[in-house]
Amino acid sequence: MNVLSMDGVDVSRGDVPVLHDITLDVAPGEAVSLLGRNGMGKTTLLRTVMGLTRSSAGRMSLEDREIQRLEPHAIARVGIGYVPQGRGIFSKLSVEENLLVGRQRGRDDELLAEMYDLFPVLAERRRLSGGTLSGGEQQMLAIARCLIRQPKLILLDEPTEGLQPSLVQRLAELLPEIRERFALSYLLVEQNVDFAFSVTDRGYVLEGGRIAVAGTTPELRDHKLIVEYLAV
Ligand SMILES: Nc1ncnc2c1ncn2[C@@H]1O[C@H](COP(=O)(O)OP(=O)(O)O)[C@@H](O)[C@H]1O
Ligand SMILES: [Mg+2]
Repeated sequence: MNVLSMDGVDVSRGDVPVLHDITLDVAPGEAVSLLGRNGMGKTTLLRTVMGLTRSSAGRMSLEDREIQRLEPHAIARVGIGYVPQGRGIFSKLSVEENLLVGRQRGRDDELLAEMYDLFPVLAERRRLSGGTLSGGEQQMLAIARCLIRQPKLILLDEPTEGLQPSLVQRLAELLPEIRERFALSYLLVEQNVDFAFSVTDRGYVLEGGRIAVAGTTPELRDHKLIVEYLAV
């Protein structure tokens, strides 16, 4: 059974159709990329999975549970984590408060310790406000905030955006480590195609609101649409 299945999903924003007939899946433990130029609907697709934007047709499920009518908090509770584009850190809250936001069971020292073990820089900065962190540290915090809820699947929207090359490299090591350690799957939206290929098994390319190409990472690497992007 797939962790995530989307079947024939259509989405409009206002009156404008943005996504058409999206059929996509992510298997347990899989790392999948979602590529495409700016404005092609990548963020809209992730928001739709999270219930933040509504679909007008089609079905979505997490394992055997239909999710297309659930509220975002319920979708998070069944096991989907979202690391939004721009990170969405609360700048006035401390690092630790950011990690604990919205947790129903309140403080959980064991999970916090696990996050601090994975991201030592967050342990050092636990009492500082989120707004004082560098872009790279905020990205780590956004990922840790998502992991602490123990999701089965995480959706990452352009995590390398605005990061310096050494941090992109760090993230390229971290994502496979997270996948293994927490036995989760991820769906990764990226403009940085080389980064996406280095951390995923297969992927999809969105073009004109549709899935134009689906294939393994080696297949995508050689596909003319990708070769064209890389040439621009
Ligand atoms: N809040 C919104 N309201 C109306 N249209 C939107 C909104 N956000 C995005 N769009 C439109 O939806 C399309 C897809 O946008 P988006 O999903 O952000 O693309 P991507 O993430 O691939 O750059 C674009 O044409 C964009 O103008
Ligand atoms: Mg986007």
